[in-house]
Amino acid sequence: MNLQVSSFEDYKKTYDYSVKEPEKFWAEIAENFQWKKKWDTVLNWNFKEPAIKWFEGAKLNITENCLDRHLDTIGDKPAIIWEPNDPEESHRVLTYKQLHDKVCQFAVVLKNNGIQKGDRICIYMPMIPELAIAVLACARIGAIHSVVFGGFSAQSIADRIQDASCNLVITADGGFRGGKDIPLKSVIDDALVQCPSVKKVIVVTRSRTPVSMIKGRDVWWEDEIKKVETMGNPECPAEEMDAEDMLFILYTSGSTGKPKGVVHTCGGYMVYTGYTFSNVFQYQPGEIYFCTADIGWITGHSYIVYGPLSQGATTVLFEGVPTWPNASRFWDIVEKHKVNILYTAPTAIRSLMGFGLDPLKGKDLSSLKKLGSVGEPINEEAWHWFDEHIGNKECPIVDTWWQTETGGIMISPIADVTPTKPGYATLPLPGIQPILVDENGKELEGNDVSGNLCIKFPWPGMLRTTYGDHERCRTTYFATYENLYFTGDGCLRDADGYYRITGRVDDVLNVSGHRIGTAEVENAINMHSSVVESAVVGFPHDIKGQGVYAYVVCPEHHSDEELTRKDIIMTVSRIIGPIAKPDKIQFVSGLPKTRSGKIMRRILRKIAEGDTSNLGDTSTLLDPGVVDEIKIGSEKMK
Ligand code: WTA
Repeated sequence: MNLQVSSFEDYKKTYDYSVKEPEKFWAEIAENFQWKKKWDTVLNWNFKEPAIKWFEGAKLNITENCLDRHLDTIGDKPAIIWEPNDPEESHRVLTYKQLHDKVCQFAVVLKNNGIQKGDRICIYMPMIPELAIAVLACARIGAIHSVVFGGFSAQSIADRIQDASCNLVITADGGFRGGKDIPLKSVIDDALVQCPSVKKVIVVTRSRTPVSMIKGRDVWWEDEIKKVETMGNPECPAEEMDAEDMLFILYTSGSTGKPKGVVHTCGGYMVYTGYTFSNVFQYQPGEIYFCTADIGWITGHSYIVYGPLSQGATTVLFEGVPTWPNASRFWDIVEKHKVNILYTAPTAIRSLMGFGLDPLKGKDLSSLKKLGSVGEPINEEAWHWFDEHIGNKECPIVDTWWQTETGGIMISPIADVTPTKPGYATLPLPGIQPILVDENGKELEGNDVSGNLCIKFPWPGMLRTTYGDHERCRTTYFATYENLYFTGDGCLRDADGYYRITGRVDDVLNVSGHRIGTAEVENAINMHSSVVESAVVGFPHDIKGQGVYAYVVCPEHHSDEELTRKDIIMTVSRIIGPIAKPDKIQFVSGLPKTRSGKIMRRILRKIAEGDTSNLGDTSTLLDPGVVDEIKIGSEKMK
């Protein structure tokens, strides 16, 4: 079966078939990939344990699909176009042949440093080609990568390294993001104080910041490559992997506890990301595709690296940020590299909207054919701005809903196929069976309903477990509603059967498209020496979508309130990373609690949203007076 549907009629036909005959459907899709050995069974599953196995018995290596199989046909075509942070620095192009060679070379470096199939490797790098090379080199030899986004703190990295007992870290001396230099190696040094499992650190040169190199532990990427060259660049055949062998771990926040390591496996993830990339964007050979995400997040894994490369696409990798050195940066990149497909986040669109139309003046965006949005609900104003000013009303916008756990896009228009509607992720992709349920898990049938979004049948890209703690995977995703995967999102299905994601229904915030657990932020705030307790909720933020609002009980702040606020922010930065910094901190004398001691977050959320007219029933509160005090305090903060 062709990966791409050809029309809306074809979509409907394909969708029906995929629901009636899911195993046949996915087997036909999987035929489009290169397997060392085909599967014995397409699917084996239950959502109880959960146990989900796709393409059991099959053997493959995802890098053969991303690299080797393209060498004869498009070996000299660009695989990666790298655009640096600073527009004055020249860009780099890696053809499929060059990327293949570099991946093999670095895979040998990993082997030379004692890495074997199944070892876990932490990657903490800036957005440079070496990041993609490192990821693919791990996959080449069957090592499991755990990429940590550059905005996380030493403590967060240490937590992740410990959780997966990583043996090796790959990092850079430093990185550039906009006007900032990020001292990556130094952050790693801090993290490693707590990580005895790490025996080696490979450091690539990027910023030329001075770094400490510890004898016996730290080696330079460039030196290691030279060693491989003196070995005569030995071949690095791709390790034969079982379809259900682990490919990578990616940590993500939930409503409770520390972030969990979402596990994806080789076969299903390869099929799902390749399929969805090709179909949703209707990728045509030769098109230049630019996803503005960071490889530190799932969007970068699936739609900068694996999906596009398995389809022989040219993928643009951008080191910087949309607003530096000025708000024309994205549009300059589009013009310079003649980008055909632009996949970005609502938060970027909103922040660029704020600069008006001047940054667009004289920019040639005529190469653009398709636009995409991901990571958070896109408000109608941003949708229309994207449509009119970037797409010139000629480019379909695919508003793609999915999650770290789903591996790839789940509900989304298919470019030029599905009629779009602003704010709507529209319809499920073939193979995806969404269902809306009420609080009690009862299915909400028909249209014009809203409820909690679940998925009732497995798909190849879904998570298999959470690393080291399968029970947590079960309770988080499969125990809320029997026999369903629960997404944590609220959703509306309108009269036309179109889906609109309304946002998280659990205690997870989505700040600038980044998932942040309120419990995590509270724990970090509570680490501050004078804080007694805290409660964190989200509030509507013009650019970030959601901002972080913290209510903090801190009896000793009176000495210098502003300084204490800054100290608390600094504490959160240290513990989690700058991305989780509270936007607003309100000092309160107590939190609204029920007699059983539960914090009434509903009330705090309403106050943070500025909606204090109807706070609902507060009579069950231990001390109803505290609500008035909080209300008055919050009004003063405006
Ligand atoms: C939200 C990012 C509305 C949603 C790929 C989900 C969206 C969470 C959309 C996952 C969208 C993602 N419309 N909301 N198109 N895409 N979300 O794991 O709340 O970083 O549960 O994966 O982002 O975030 P994650």
